[in-house]
Amino acid sequence: MANSLFRTKKIENILAEGSDDAHGGGGLKRVLTLKDLTFFGIAAIIGAGSFSSLGAAVFSGGPGVVMLFVITGIACAFTAFCYSEFASRIPVAGSAYTYAYASFGELFAWIIGWALIMEYSIGNIYVAFSWSDYFTSFMSKINVHIPEYLTCSYIEAKKAVADGSANADLLAAWNTAPVVAGLRIIFDLPALVINVLITYLVYLGVRESRNFSNAMVVLKLIVVLLVILVGGYLIFANGLSFNWVPDDGTGKHAFMPNGFSGVMAAVSGVFFAYIGFDAVSVLAEESKNPQRDLPRGMVLSLVICTIVYILLTLVLTGAVNYRSFDGIGDPLAFIFERDNLNIGWMQFLVAICAVVAMTSVLLVFQMGQPRIWMSMSRDGLLPKVFQKIHPKYKTPSFSTILTGLVVGVPILFTDKTFVLDFTSIATLFAFVLVCGGVLLIPRKEKVAGRFTIPYINAKLIFPALVLGVLVVLGVFGKDYFKTMFQFSLNAGDKENNLSSVVSDGKADFKTAYFLNAAEMNTISKKLKGQPDVQAGLQAFTKNNDSLNAIIDAMAMAKIAAKPGYVQLRETGTTAASDTGTLFAPGELDFEKELRTALSTITFAPVGVAATAAAVEKILADPADSNLLAKWKNQVLLNTYLAAPADSSTVQPDFKGTLNKSFEGVTIKSLQTKFDSNLSQKRTTNTTTIIFWLSCLLLAILAFLRNWSLIPLLGLTSCMYLLTGMTASNWIWFISWLGIGLVIYLLYGAKKSKLAGT
Ligand code: ALA
Repeated sequence: MANSLFRTKKIENILAEGSDDAHGGGGLKRVLTLKDLTFFGIAAIIGAGSFSSLGAAVFSGGPGVVMLFVITGIACAFTAFCYSEFASRIPVAGSAYTYAYASFGELFAWIIGWALIMEYSIGNIYVAFSWSDYFTSFMSKINVHIPEYLTCSYIEAKKAVADGSANADLLAAWNTAPVVAGLRIIFDLPALVINVLITYLVYLGVRESRNFSNAMVVLKLIVVLLVILVGGYLIFANGLSFNWVPDDGTGKHAFMPNGFSGVMAAVSGVFFAYIGFDAVSVLAEESKNPQRDLPRGMVLSLVICTIVYILLTLVLTGAVNYRSFDGIGDPLAFIFERDNLNIGWMQFLVAICAVVAMTSVLLVFQMGQPRIWMSMSRDGLLPKVFQKIHPKYKTPSFSTILTGLVVGVPILFTDKTFVLDFTSIATLFAFVLVCGGVLLIPRKEKVAGRFTIPYINAKLIFPALVLGVLVVLGVFGKDYFKTMFQFSLNAGDKENNLSSVVSDGKADFKTAYFLNAAEMNTISKKLKGQPDVQAGLQAFTKNNDSLNAIIDAMAMAKIAAKPGYVQLRETGTTAASDTGTLFAPGELDFEKELRTALSTITFAPVGVAATAAAVEKILADPADSNLLAKWKNQVLLNTYLAAPADSSTVQPDFKGTLNKSFEGVTIKSLQTKFDSNLSQKRTTNTTTIIFWLSCLLLAILAFLRNWSLIPLLGLTSCMYLLTGMTASNWIWFISWLGIGLVIYLLYGAKKSKLAGT
């Protein structure tokens, strides 16, 4: 039994079947050229990742997310080489699945095929949701209102109500939804409709889809380039480059304001943006010259997209402070909003383009999934009906419709974050196996016109690299190894957790009530010709340091006043000396804390009245009401700063707003955050330890077997990205694999073509 699980398929057999009519291989039309394949790559890569999940990634890691794009781009490039090697040896449909069959054997092949359902179908759910977000906002720009309960998922709306969210759209969806038999009717209609349309298009055949897809790729590249050029120009023209080194919450300015762990926490979103280059390989049977064009198409599309992503991230984080991206689902349009770069036509253009771009992503993945199932069915691992080819359209008809259902039905009951994480972890896992697979298949001589990974003997280089990095981390990485083996939160972690709650609250408060640098800039521009007022305005900005100190004191006082806080701090605290640095109940005196905070700061006194009156005048337009309200708070703050010792000058509504922003922080929410950070620390530590042990093992094997360096680097870089996944990602993913394994043992293991051989 054990042997049969690892039975491999001979590459010659796979090739023979791929071109054999009886297996459906000859049934697909060979029409795609290098240009088409590259376009397919770009069509699949640039989509919801850049148009939607980039916002959350940037919010988590700040401008430093650029580094993660570079790391992920390199990992994907190594992987693309491995895909190319396989694709040039085995140019038939099936992608990583087929490759694993030839290298690791049947069980792994099945597991990959099963994991790829995540990449192709579940990933498309995320894209469909994002498509719907942009579509809905585009429609609202042309004054067509789709009811909220038809634009989001039931789960999202329910969660928003339960968590007391401030998201007006989700709350409206819940409150206005029609109720049938006690159940609220809430679902994402545009996401469902686009899924039906795409399924229909794929069903009709590849030629029509290809023309459609090529046109869309050109359009989206033009618009993405326009975002980069217009955004980039405005960053320099408006002097916004300070956004690249934002305040890290402690007053220091940093490219990675949340540290490297903040950057790594963005891995799902960043990796998702890269998924797609591998989809090119499933078109092997429809490509005119797969041996030559598949590898080139894949690498070319990857290089183009990496450059685009790096520039895009720089433009986004330069145009607006990274913290403003909290909860922003349409980041590329967002930077051109009125309060940011303020270019209306760009907002409109980006919204249209996002709809187009994501349509092409949906198309590529919806085409890929049936072709993988077709391969699995050929091998006997899935029932025969999966390989049925439509007599007229020459497309895998049953599998295409089933894909439509697998994407469409969950749209009714999942939410975005869940599907994003799920897709990324499963795809990374598949990439790890593809790179590992290249190491296992026998090396071959270079054949002219075919792609072969350049062979660099890793025998000495790889072990030296692993040991070198370990030594560097040991010497320069601050307590890197000590922290790696710490499985509980120490005093420092608790302090960090608390300050991250505080800085979240601070940032929310500031975004809601005070002007950020870009908004100050907008006002400043309106004050052209009034240099005195402009100078006064600058002085207001300088006082933002004092604002930070006030909010800090306020936040700590508010949090420490919560019943149960002291107990919370002491539970699980490892250092006995960890007391007394924060306030305890009873010790609280907000006014005292404020004065203490202020006494440590020098602030710029401002000609409040004159500046205030002039600014209020130019913000009289109702469209500027948001700016005006924030400006009034700013004036209030400055009034207070002018006479800090006299607390009576703090007007009640100002104190009220300060108080309100920390109302939501409960001891339960702190506890939840502590717990989730603890769980994340344990998961990261465990996966990091496994990662380094695997590297050491690979170093030994590379030394003994003269392994090739490029696939080895692909393998290790993808494994490294996996260390960024959360505990719940792993639990869901492992459960999914478990279900797949049961299905394999009950069906595929018995029905496999290789059974009994
Ligand atoms: N990379 C693809 C996207 O971003 C999946 O939509």
